[in-house]
Formats: sequence, C-alpha cells, structure tokens
Amino acid sequence: MHSFHYQNGSLHCEGVDLQTLADTHGTPLYVYSQATILDHFRRLDAALAEVDHLICYATKANSNLAVLNLLAKEGAGFDIVSGGELRRIQHAGGDAGKCTFAGVGKTRAEIELALREGIYCFNAESEAEIVFIDQVAGEMGVKAPVALRVNPNVDAQTHKYISTGKSENKFGIDFDIIREAYDRASKLPNITLRGLQMHIGSQLTSSNPFVEAVEKVAPLAAEFKDAYGIEFFSVGGGIGIVYQDSLASGDADWWSSKEDGEKPLTVEEYAARLVPLLKPLGLRILLEPGRYMVGNAGAMITRILYEKHGSAKTFKIVDAGMNDLIRPALYQGHHDIAPLRQPADDAATETVDVVGPVCESGDFFAQNREIPATEAGDCLAVLSSGAYGFVMASNYNSRPFPAEILVDGDTAHVIRKRQDFSDLVAGEIIPS
Ligand code: LLP
Repeated sequence: MHSFHYQNGSLHCEGVDLQTLADTHGTPLYVYSQATILDHFRRLDAALAEVDHLICYATKANSNLAVLNLLAKEGAGFDIVSGGELRRIQHAGGDAGKCTFAGVGKTRAEIELALREGIYCFNAESEAEIVFIDQVAGEMGVKAPVALRVNPNVDAQTHKYISTGKSENKFGIDFDIIREAYDRASKLPNITLRGLQMHIGSQLTSSNPFVEAVEKVAPLAAEFKDAYGIEFFSVGGGIGIVYQDSLASGDADWWSSKEDGEKPLTVEEYAARLVPLLKPLGLRILLEPGRYMVGNAGAMITRILYEKHGSAKTFKIVDAGMNDLIRPALYQGHHDIAPLRQPADDAATETVDVVGPVCESGDFFAQNREIPATEAGDCLAVLSSGAYGFVMASNYNSRPFPAEILVDGDTAHVIRKRQDFSDLVAGEIIPS
C-alpha cells in the first residue's frame, strides 16, 4: 500500500498536504504514513496465518520511538542489533521478551543488558561469541537463550553491500560447520539452544533466493528440533520493495498493473511459497522484515534552493544532503522524486541532477533524471525513504538532523524535533 498521492493539485500523505507540512515545519523533513505501516504489518501477519509465527520488525530500518510504539501495540516482536535498540524498544512500550538480538559484535555490556532484561533470544554469529555469552551468563547465574545464525551460502541477487548470505560475507556460521557448532554449543552449561536463524540479504525482489535458502536450511531446523529441542526457525528479513514508479497510483494494489519483470515481491507470494516449506517443521517461525514495513511508508521532503546550468548538466540544488539520506551515495539506490505541486499532464519536463549542499560529489539524489519542470523554492518528495533513511543520517558538515512527522489520517504528529545548534555541539568539550 502506498499513501502518497496527489489531491487538489498537491502531494498528500494520507489526508495531509505535504506543502503545508514543509511550510510549517521546514525542510528537509521526513514524513511517514501510519496507515501504510499498519497495513504492511497486518498483511504480512495475515499471509502467515497458517503457521505459528512472530514478526520481529528489524528496528534498524526506522527506530523512531513513535514507529516502534505503533508496532509494539500491534503485537510485533523486534529484531535488535545493539543495547541502544533494546532500550529504545522498552522506552517505546515494546517487550524485551519478544526481542531477538543479532549482530556480529555484541559487547559484554550489551549481553549483560539483554540477559538482565530477559530478551527472547540471541542470534549468535560466531563460535567465539557463543562461548562469551556462555561465560557472561554463567557470571550472572542465568541461562542465555541462543540461536545460531547459519550462513546458507545462497546468492540473494541484491547489491553487494546488502547481501549477507554468501560464504564471503562476515555474517553467520558456515553451513558446512553448523552441526559441529550446535553440538559444541549444546555442551556449554549456561546456554539454552532456542532456535536457528538465517538472513541472506536485503531488498530481495524475487522469492526464489528465499525458497532456495529455506529448502537448504529447513532440514537442519528439523534436525535441531529433534536433537536440541529448539522452538523456532527465523528466516530473517529481506523482503524487497518497489523504488521505481512508486507513485504510480495510491491504490492498494497498484503493482498489479505493472508489467511483468518489474512487479515487486508481494508478501502474499512470499508466504505462498515459504509457508508450505515451513509448516511441516512444527516450529515457531520468526521473520525480521525492516524495509518492507516502513520503506514505502516514508518520504523525505526537500526544497530547491538554486538552479545551476552547467555546460554539461542542469543541477537542482536542494536543502537535503547525503547526510540526511545516504542511500543513493552508498548503494546507488534509486528513489523516485516527485514535486509537491502536481504537474499538469502536459507539463514540460527537464533532465537534471538533484544534488545536495554537502561538499562531496557523491551528494546527489538523482543523476540525469527526467522530472517535471520545477523552479527554485519548489519542494520535492524523495519517495520510499522510510527505511534506512533517517536512521542513517549524520551531522556531517555540521548539518542538524531533520524533523520527522507521523501522519495518521488528517493529523500530522511531530515525532522528532529538528535539531538546533545546541544539539549539534552537545557533549563536545574544549579543554581549558
Ligand atoms: N535481519 C538481519 C539479520 C539483518 O541484517 C537485516 C538488515 C534485516 C533483518 C532486515 O532486512 P530488511 O527486511 O530491511 O531487508 N542500509 C541498507 C540495508 C541494510 C540492511 C542490513 N540488515 C539499505 O539502505 O539498503
């Protein structure tokens, strides 16, 4: 579902006019649709109805407290990768008992916090880590629930920076030695083996790699259920979203009209292919979707400051930079760009680079992109920015973090204030 659409000549998120938001709250500005987030959670939940399951939202995709609170109220679990994320979940009203803790480099302080707060499970990524968790749990006089992350050596067919399931990636324990790893872990006194986990990568646009990985790993899950009494199998996250033509229509099923080949992976197709493989296991199935839940739910609004006509190109210089949204610079990520003022059907277009103010050539949102004609002062929406957008922002060039808004119907809630100069320098000390 997509909640960004033109209405009365201007782009809206649900019932809220984005130009009014930009004028009131300033730019750059992140705006999220509550209806889209809830719709995505509920659709995935419904698609998995046939198996006992827990959707553990990948907190890293968008960890604003309001977003976490929304999902906690829906009954979501959470996939976390740091002590900070665990504390966020609890602060937002989420349940530590529904958290899985992933990541290759958990520190002692994080392991202690997670054990104290009673998380559901650690997803351990190396034998050294399991031994360390066992040691810390022993010192605390508790048993640590652990799943091992298996690296199935499957090609996720996605960008190399977000592919994680091949042997050359740093993630998980090699498929070939996972049995020995479980055997050794089962002998540690302070570990309870609770599950098996995998995650092959992010932004997968076909169900085939998921099927390939589950077919490879499900027999192990069955084996470990018998041998060690594990209770869950986590198939990770990775469900891809549409970044191209994402404003085609506000219709919930707008993708059904798309041509073959550019159809996104729907959760219904994902579930239809995976559930038959998972159901016979009789295990609880965990999923860790991040991007799918929030990606299309968000847009970043930015204002055109200047137009510059170079000999080779026309640049639209906007007030958001790579520090606010780094996906184009880091992954060559494509984000559709739509003017907030609705262009007439026969409006002129121009081919431009949309660039930010940061002193780097990588600071762009689009290159050689044909967009409707705009002028300085106009605002643009950089679409599908709800996942890995704000959370990857930095203060580079001493630029404050943008504000964030959560739209619910006709109401816009400010869910993060824009930073000011005092926020920027808070914590810095000039030696006396
Ligand atoms: N589970 C694990 C173990 C993960 O590492 C990730 C993402 C997820 C779940 C959630 O994956 P998702 O459902 O969102 O695809 N910043 C990059 C994406 C990095 C993904 C990192 N891990 C981007 O903007 O494309």
